[in-house]
Amino acid sequence: MRKSIDVSVRAIKGDLLTVPSDLLAVGFFENEKPAGRKQALDKKLNGAITSAMKLKDFTGKASSTALFYSDGAIRCPRVLLVGLGEKKKASLDGLRRAAAAAASAAVDLKAPSLSLWLHDGDFGEAASPGEIGRVLAEGVYFGAYRYDEYLSGEQSNRRPDRIRAVVVDSSQSAADKLAKGIRTGSILGSAQSYARTLANRPANVITPAAIAAEAKKLARAAASLSCKVLDEKQLAAQKMGGILAVGKGSVNAPRLILLKYTPPGRASSRSAPLALVGKAVTFDSGGISIKPGEGMQDMKFDKSGGMAVLGAMRAIAALKPRRTIYGLIPSAENMPGGNSYRPGDIVTTYSRKTVEIQNTDAEGRMLLCDAIAYAEKLGCSPIIDTATLTGACVIAIGTKRAGLMGNDETLIESLLAASKKTGERLWHLPCDEEYVEAMKSKIADLKNIGGKWGGACTAAAFLSRFAGKAKWAHLDIAGVGVWGAEEKDAPGSIGFGVRLLTVFAAGL
Ligand code: BES
Ligand code: MN
Ligand code: ZN
Repeated sequence: MRKSIDVSVRAIKGDLLTVPSDLLAVGFFENEKPAGRKQALDKKLNGAITSAMKLKDFTGKASSTALFYSDGAIRCPRVLLVGLGEKKKASLDGLRRAAAAAASAAVDLKAPSLSLWLHDGDFGEAASPGEIGRVLAEGVYFGAYRYDEYLSGEQSNRRPDRIRAVVVDSSQSAADKLAKGIRTGSILGSAQSYARTLANRPANVITPAAIAAEAKKLARAAASLSCKVLDEKQLAAQKMGGILAVGKGSVNAPRLILLKYTPPGRASSRSAPLALVGKAVTFDSGGISIKPGEGMQDMKFDKSGGMAVLGAMRAIAALKPRRTIYGLIPSAENMPGGNSYRPGDIVTTYSRKTVEIQNTDAEGRMLLCDAIAYAEKLGCSPIIDTATLTGACVIAIGTKRAGLMGNDETLIESLLAASKKTGERLWHLPCDEEYVEAMKSKIADLKNIGGKWGGACTAAAFLSRFAGKAKWAHLDIAGVGVWGAEEKDAPGSIGFGVRLLTVFAAGL
């Protein structure tokens, strides 16, 4: 099995004409003319940059690139111009994307050392050197990611084993400040890549038990993390009827994974612990209410929420915030079989609330309701869950943003603020009382599907019933978690939510 690309990012004092590397990436806003050090570079390249701009081969459009060969004129054999987009719209997210484009090009060129001269410009109010360093590192990790652990032979040799990136700045003190942010960004970026790989693994390889083993491994590697796993027997002893029902149809038995982060020293506040809950359905066939065959293979990504929580817990252990944080990952495989749960079944959940099953394909909420109720019983608040929960959310808002619902305005506001920092975009959707009406059953406390309309909202309203008095928010990542196909360089999971949950949890 192929090892993933080993990425590192540093900051150095230096100059773009003298820094040695395999590839030098230089940023330009739209219609920006080479000036200062970039003009010196253009001169060294005999005006090649100006020519490309005159011909409109390179205009600085966001994430566009143009490659030049320096033929010994500077210390890097290759120069990559990277578009930063319109100057007046410049943002940290644009800078992150530019770094990703540069790192992705380095991978495709098999250029293991990469120097970045992307950040000499104005990237908005929030752009301190620390934040710039963070987003540059995040972008490098994202762009250098490939899922190729099952490629063998010739195909697997098309990329380097490592990417060593250096952010170059002409001032030593700026480089030092950048380095601080790069440290945080590298923690976030590597945790995101970790989550992407786990999410990308197919269901024949990664079963609920395999995810549990991975969580145990994670906890062994970090002193501040502990891990408890409830297997089928223990789930039965705890009366986790929702998780058990979904898991019944598969030979790969369900698990509830409980990770706990305890801050080193003493916790600074007496506030309640935070809970991060992630849906981890290793494969969602729909069960007895089986899905159509077309596109069914993508349901191996139905564990993306759970893998984002694993990634976030890994990053949290490295960042060491002063607060207790639980990561709860209910995991099952939703399969049709002689022992499957059926439409018509009435399931008693961990909360003791009963649910009439009307569609076995609405399985995510059956897992989450037990995990959320368990978190509430642990005294957690807020509780934040993330799940590839509904196709309806994708129909409503597409693949660029995740749906955000919840029962507390300030919690929603702080998640939106965290989302601004991480570039993982959200859209606030409703889930108030009225939506619960659609989830009421005549023969049980709730049913597991609503009517025809507002499926993302009724699903969230269902979940809200299990949070008790805790503050609770829900991310529906069905559109962003599964359809990474839009990432041309690395199709599959984009690890949505790792940075967001971590930045929220660690209060960065
Ligand atoms: N995992 C799916 C949701 C999903 C759909 C994720 C498309 C990514 C892309 C979920 O378990 C599901 O099947 N939801 C059903 C709910 C319905 C039966 C009420 C859906 O959205 O069709
Ligand atoms: Mn389903
Ligand atoms: Zn599902």
